[in-house]
Amino acid sequence: MQALVYTQYGSPDVLQLQEVEKPTPKAKEVLVKVQAVSVNQADLHLLRGQPVFLRLTLGLFKPRNPILGSDIAGRVEAVGREVTRFQPGDTVFGDLSGVGRGGFAEYVAAPADDLSLKPASVPFETAASVPMAGVTALQGLRDYGHIQSGERVLINGASGGVGSLAVQIAKIFGAEVTAVCSTRKVEMVRKLGADRVIDYTRQDFTQTGQPYDLIFDTVANRSIADYRQALTPVGRFVTTGFLPALYFQGLRLGKADQRRMENMLAKPNTKDLTFLGELLEAGQLTPTIDRHYPLGEAANALRYVGEGHAAGKVLISIPERDKPTIHQRSSLAVPA
Ligand SMILES: NC(=O)c1ccc[n+]([C@@H]2O[C@H](COP(=O)([O-])OP(=O)(O)OC[C@H]3O[C@@H](n4cnc5c(N)ncnc54)[C@H](OP(=O)(O)O)[C@@H]3O)[C@@H](O)[C@H]2O)c1
Repeated sequence: MQALVYTQYGSPDVLQLQEVEKPTPKAKEVLVKVQAVSVNQADLHLLRGQPVFLRLTLGLFKPRNPILGSDIAGRVEAVGREVTRFQPGDTVFGDLSGVGRGGFAEYVAAPADDLSLKPASVPFETAASVPMAGVTALQGLRDYGHIQSGERVLINGASGGVGSLAVQIAKIFGAEVTAVCSTRKVEMVRKLGADRVIDYTRQDFTQTGQPYDLIFDTVANRSIADYRQALTPVGRFVTTGFLPALYFQGLRLGKADQRRMENMLAKPNTKDLTFLGELLEAGQLTPTIDRHYPLGEAANALRYVGEGHAAGKVLISIPERDKPTIHQRSSLAVPA
C-alpha cells in the first residue's frame, strides 16, 4: 500500500510517499481502508519532534511510528478474531492519536475500541474532520468550561479547525457566542452561527469592557492578565494552547477570586465522537473544509496547516488508488 512516511524529524520536506506493507489487524483490531484523514497541528508537532521532550515517547533519535495521521474515516476491510463490534463493509471514523496513528496511508490497523460507526449519510471527509478537533471543542466547552445555556461565550481562534467547530457546539449548548478571527474569515465565522464577530486586526477582545462567562481559546497569544480581565467575576477560561503560568493560577488569582483558568488536554473518546456523529447526521454540526489534497500531495497539506491560518479543516482524500487529482481550494463559505 502507499503511505506517507517519515524516518527523521523535520519539516514536511522529510515526508515521502512510499510503498509499504499493508498492516495485518491483531485480535482486537480492524483493518480500515482509509478514505479521508484530516490534518491537525499535532501532526506537525510529531513531524518536527517538537517540543523535544516529546521524543522521549516518540523515539529519541528518529520516530518509532513512521506514519502520522490520526483523524480517519474509512471502510472496514477485515476484523481481528476478537472483534465483535464491526464487520467488513462497516464505515467508521476515529482518532488514533492515542494508539500510534498511521492514518496517512491507504490502510491502517486500528483497535476496534477506538473507532465509532460513521453515520451512513455523513461523507467520509466530513467525518474525518471532527475526531480530534470536535472532541477537543466539545470537552473544552462542556467538561472544562461547564458551558450553560444563555451564557456569554467567547471563542478565540474561531476560524481554525477546533474553533470553527467550537462556535457551532457552543450554539448547540444555547450560548450567546462571540467569535474572534481575522478580517477575511469574518463572514465564514458569522455563517457558522456566531452572534457577534470580533476582527482581531481591528479590535482587542480583552478591551471591549464586555466580560464573558466563558472564554474558549485556541491561540494562547495573550497574557493571563489580559484573558482574566475579559472574564466575569465567576468566569471560566479554557485554552487548548499551553500557558505554563496557569499552573500557578491559584497563587496568581488568590483565594477570593472565583474565576477559573485552565490549560486543557483533550482525550480521544468514542462516546463523545458518536455524539458528534449524531450532530453531523442531524445537520446540526457542519465542518468547514478549507482544502482537500490527494495522499501524493499530503506534504503540502501539512505545510499549509503549519502556516496556522487554515479556515476550518484540511483534508487528505484517499480514493481506491491515489490518483494525481488536482487539489482544489474551496471558498471560505460553509458547506450548505
Ligand atoms: N490541548 C489539546 O487537547 C488540543 C487539542 C487539539 C488542538 N490543540 C491545539 O489547539 C490549537 C488550535 O488548533 P487548530 O486545529 O484549531 O489549529 P488551526 O486549524 O491551525 O487554527 C488556528 C487558527 O488560529 C487563528 N489565529 C491565528 N492567530 C490568531 C490571533 N492572533 N487571534 C485569533 N485567532 C488567531 C487562525 O485564524 P486566522 O487565520 O483568522 O488568524 C487559525 O484559523 C493548536 O495549537 C493545537 O495544537 C490542543
